[in-house]
Amino acid sequence: MKHELIKIDDIPTTGSVVVPFFGRELHVYRAGERIRAIANTCLHFGGPLECREGKLVCAWHGAHFDMATGERESGPAPRDSKLMFLSTRVEGDALYYVWGD
Ligand code: FES
Repeated sequence: MKHELIKIDDIPTTGSVVVPFFGRELHVYRAGERIRAIANTCLHFGGPLECREGKLVCAWHGAHFDMATGERESGPAPRDSKLMFLSTRVEGDALYYVWGD
């Protein structure tokens, strides 16, 4: 099954774009040749993340996460925690969330 997230042309070449996701949000961004989609939810208390200088930074208490790996780099989110990447696929001119395939 699949659900369209965003048109490929609407994904910026730098930084990220926040897209709605079933009542929540994702950050979608380009990482080299790949396009990544990651939950916009901090692993401390669920705060929203901002894309700053190549990192995802929590707006509430400042946890930093690596955009390539999702791993926590600093701040109050648990050590060894990792943001949730979604399974996606490019089809035609759009990026889809895919599941159950
Ligand atoms: S909710 Fe993100 S650091 Fe606290």
